[in-house]
Amino acid sequence: MSSTDGQSSFEMPVMESAPGPITVLDGRECLYFAGTGYLGLQANPDVLAAAVAGAQRYGMHSATTRAGFGNSPPVLEVERRTAEFLDCRQACYLVSGYASNFALAAAVREEIDLAFIDEAAHDCLSEATRWLDLARPPISFRHRDAGHLGELLKNYGTRGQRLLVLTDGVFAASGRLAPLGDYLSILKQYSGAALLVDDAHGVGVLGEHGRGSLELTGIAPAAINTAEGTQELRLLHSITLSKAIGGHGGAVAGSRAFLERLRSASGWFRGASAPAAPVAAATAKALELVHTRPELRRRLAENITHARQRLRELGLGIEDLPSAIVSFELASAAEMQRVQRSLLSAGIAIAHTRDYAGAGPDGMLRIAIFATHTRDMIDQLAATLARVL
Ligand SMILES: Cc1ncc(COP(=O)(O)O)c(C=O)c1O
Repeated sequence: MSSTDGQSSFEMPVMESAPGPITVLDGRECLYFAGTGYLGLQANPDVLAAAVAGAQRYGMHSATTRAGFGNSPPVLEVERRTAEFLDCRQACYLVSGYASNFALAAAVREEIDLAFIDEAAHDCLSEATRWLDLARPPISFRHRDAGHLGELLKNYGTRGQRLLVLTDGVFAASGRLAPLGDYLSILKQYSGAALLVDDAHGVGVLGEHGRGSLELTGIAPAAINTAEGTQELRLLHSITLSKAIGGHGGAVAGSRAFLERLRSASGWFRGASAPAAPVAAATAKALELVHTRPELRRRLAENITHARQRLRELGLGIEDLPSAIVSFELASAAEMQRVQRSLLSAGIAIAHTRDYAGAGPDGMLRIAIFATHTRDMIDQLAATLARVL
């Protein structure tokens, strides 16, 4: 079975506290370097207070869809704050980042003939292609290999066909970045082509304003998810609010016209209960904090640099990347399992990710860095890892 540490879910530890630098796993406090709470807001007191106030005022949720009476103030507030944070005209808030890609695909289903997908793309992107109206299954290109993508585009008789390329912005297992600039240069040669970027692990972390992989690549927010100009290269984009942002749910931001189309095309908007009101209230507060407290992102960036430096000193093949996921491989799956278990015995939790989003069958050891880790915690991880290795 695929899972983030390659074990059956029955062997997975149970998290008995909020995720944070110290997290209770199976009744024991651990130094926690797993998961995706990069900005450390999942247990922020203001976020939790907003959830409680939201529950008291609005109940669990509207018990109807967004197309009916399901537009509660917290849900609309999440959309307003997402648009503000990403500097887009509007946003649509959905129950998960996973499902956001389905809604995105449904919005463009009649405008795509042929799709190409990174072989290590997240499962939600492969599933999203089922919502497109494609005559043949999507074609995989080698992981992060713009050259291979270029060859495939040339060889597949793409003339006159409207192409879509799907990729993660930051890959969930390895933390590596997709070469978005290279993909864009290639796709510019194809009229009506589109690039879909799922930036679940980039948003809140990368770029001057934390807008993610597109900002890091120099792409202006006004260019994403627009309905106009289908002969131009189109940028499609989805995010999650459940990882760095510290709330819950997914979102698609873009132009009014595009989001209008997404709302009418997607059953997730028309046929599902709106995101839960307490969750929406907490997510709106988390977005406010991310937007107004850039020091969180600065602290995260410092921790990422420090962690990568310390782990590189151990002779591990650590790349110099701005992402909060620091991963490396050892000789075998058994060796990586041994290291993960030894760290856990020493009270430090990291993931051994296998068969998932870029990690092969042997997997990789994945360390998640948070803004709320202290230098001492990172040094303790490096020292314990040195001993265990
Ligand atoms: C790249 C990517 N997209 C989407 C998701 C799913 O997001 P959500 O948890 O908000 O459904 C994940 C979850 O790990 C992910 O890694």
